[in-house]
Amino acid sequence: MLRPTRLVVLISGQGSLLAALLEAIEAGQLEAQVLAVGADRAAAGLARPKAQGIPTFVQRLPTGADRSVWDQALADQVAAYQPDLVVSAGFMKLVGKGFLDRFGGRFINTHPALLPSFPGAHAVRDALAAGVKVTGCTVFQVDQGVDTGPIIAQEPVLVAAGDDEDSLHERIKQVERRLLVRVIKEWSK
Ligand code: GAR
Repeated sequence: MLRPTRLVVLISGQGSLLAALLEAIEAGQLEAQVLAVGADRAAAGLARPKAQGIPTFVQRLPTGADRSVWDQALADQVAAYQPDLVVSAGFMKLVGKGFLDRFGGRFINTHPALLPSFPGAHAVRDALAAGVKVTGCTVFQVDQGVDTGPIIAQEPVLVAAGDDEDSLHERIKQVERRLLVRVIKEWSK
């Protein structure tokens, strides 16, 4: 029998995608193990893994700090858990060559838009500003660009009349949570 896929998850915010992964694992819908959760700040989403006894770490990038040093330090923290797959689930920092040299090809990210449209940190706001009627989410393999890596899976989400950034982002996240679980399941096969 295959062993559960060993994951390290990186977050910056609420961690609702991480929570969806943990719930899918608990429900027996995903054969995976979250070995550790890392963040670049004191993210609210760290509370849940901490409460479950999952190790957490915070690797901050202070303003003006050498990014390659931070990158190596983050890679060292992740490597200590020997993951099969690293999942960026709302991690709002770009990693560099040092990190990708070690985890390239097994580092995936989820983005709240249909890439290559609306890359970057404000995908939902940018989609609303552009007036699109359909947006969605993308799970992709991280490369050195900004949200440019090979696309693994996408799902559309309709923009509703009267949507604001929060309402649209929440509907996208409902789809993202499911999509991320599905991609990890398929990656593990
Ligand atoms: C998700 O929508 C994810 O796609 C987005 O942050 C949210 C995290 O939600 N990531 C990006 O925008 C990366 N460019 P969560 O903290 O509730 O899991």
